[in-house]
Amino acid sequence: MYIHHVFWLCSQKFVNSLPSSLKSDYNHRDTVAPFRTKEIILGKLLGSGEFSHVYEISEFRPVDDIELDETSSTIRSLGLVDAEIAVRKLMKKRERSRHTNKASYALKHLRPVLLEKYDVEKYIQAATDLAMEAEFLNSLSDPNIIKLRGISFAGPGGFSHGPKGYFIILDRLHETLADRIKRWKKQKNGPFLIGNVRELGRKATELGRKALTATMLGSETSSVSGSLTRSNSATSVVLEDQLDVGLQLASALAYLHEKNIIFRDLKPANVGFDVRGDVKLFDFGLATFMSEDGDPYEDEYEMSGAGSPRYMAPEVLVNPPKPYNMKVDVYSFGIVLWEILSLQRPYAHVRSQDELVDYVAIQGGRPAINDEWKEPVKKTLASSFSADSTARPTIKCCYDFLRKQLIEHRDGDASQLSDSYIKRRRSMASMQLELSLHVHNYQQQMKKEKTLGHKVSAAMTAVNSVAKMNTIRNTLRLSTKKEEE
Ligand SMILES: Nc1ncnc2c1ncn2[C@@H]1O[C@H](COP(=O)(O)OP(=O)(O)O)[C@@H](O)[C@H]1O
Ligand SMILES: [Mg+2]
Repeated sequence: MYIHHVFWLCSQKFVNSLPSSLKSDYNHRDTVAPFRTKEIILGKLLGSGEFSHVYEISEFRPVDDIELDETSSTIRSLGLVDAEIAVRKLMKKRERSRHTNKASYALKHLRPVLLEKYDVEKYIQAATDLAMEAEFLNSLSDPNIIKLRGISFAGPGGFSHGPKGYFIILDRLHETLADRIKRWKKQKNGPFLIGNVRELGRKATELGRKALTATMLGSETSSVSGSLTRSNSATSVVLEDQLDVGLQLASALAYLHEKNIIFRDLKPANVGFDVRGDVKLFDFGLATFMSEDGDPYEDEYEMSGAGSPRYMAPEVLVNPPKPYNMKVDVYSFGIVLWEILSLQRPYAHVRSQDELVDYVAIQGGRPAINDEWKEPVKKTLASSFSADSTARPTIKCCYDFLRKQLIEHRDGDASQLSDSYIKRRRSMASMQLELSLHVHNYQQQMKKEKTLGHKVSAAMTAVNSVAKMNTIRNTLRLSTKKEEE
């Protein structure tokens, strides 16, 4: 009862502390589906943080073995409103991707060991953070921030059944930025490595088959593969993806900062990619509000230290932490952007936290900026690393800067970078990367195939997927152009 009451109080405090910019969003929140523990069959463990485990949801099992049906009196008697019933039904229907058969949702709960290992105060803190995370996620609405889809039936009251009694359900992500950085490194340094051409061929569309005929007659598709065999193509394609990911991340942070929210724990392990390849910021356990009075970028507040040391601004790295503001996120963003561009771990040589504090906060050490990078890149990174938080740019400046870089990289093509397009688009850069991989795989496959029949089938498969990608890309280009006119 005690724990339950604590969460109720926190929740009230949360609503009262919402900046006015968020209160209207809060009142029009998406419906979150309540589920009971026994209605959910968990699959494999997807990952763990310091305080929580995240599992994939392999199946939803309707209450009392009765179908999730609006007319069911059993469900009504549980006190669900119509909208909740509808969302539960939809989630049941979408529990697996129709295309990949992979689980669509993930469940996050506290690590049970917390209760045994930590004192009550610390357990309550971890539990409060998770409940607050749900409140944050449900109050926010941005394409680059993960969505809250479901919650334990009793709400935070579920904690009265133990650490696993309260859980949140999120969209399942497929890769973290930490994984993506490793993949970029491989793609840049080694030969392209990818999935099975035949598997892709199986999914290829009729449209692709038509394009094959066109290609055999000498259409533009073959020139795509031609240009990609150039030695710098991998680097160029990866760079486009790197800039695009940086831009989407800046966009998510700009949204938060506009709402007076500091994320406080930005690092590659807290950034993921959804099924479409779009960037999703997750893990809001440490997010907090700045007061609305005054300037959130200029004023500084006393707050508890938070975040992961490697990505923490010097003012919060020291013990005790100095007053700080939104600019701590800009510093972390700078370090993450440096990691995205350099594909190296920041402060890799540092062996302990004490050493890190000494190196970063006392000696003013920072990641080495590559001399070959463009001047504006060097300048933006250097200023975001500044020990003086007022010298750091705002996150909106970082966003504008990255957008400009990406347009330049695309030879002035800004068609997919209007703000409204960014908000909805499928990640084009990831698609282009995929495209180049197909072509390379095709070339490898062709070398391997012995008989003419197999060679033709490998060619069909590869061209199909290339054509499909091109079609999607052109359709998107056209629709954006129309909208901008
Ligand atoms: N929605 C998700 N889909 C897939 N994996 C996830 C998802 N959320 C978290 N994970 C994995 O679980 C790990 C821990 O989740 P996180 O929310 O960061 O927990 P904590 O608050 O304990 O740090 C992440 O680093 C990631 O690998
Ligand atoms: Mg985490």
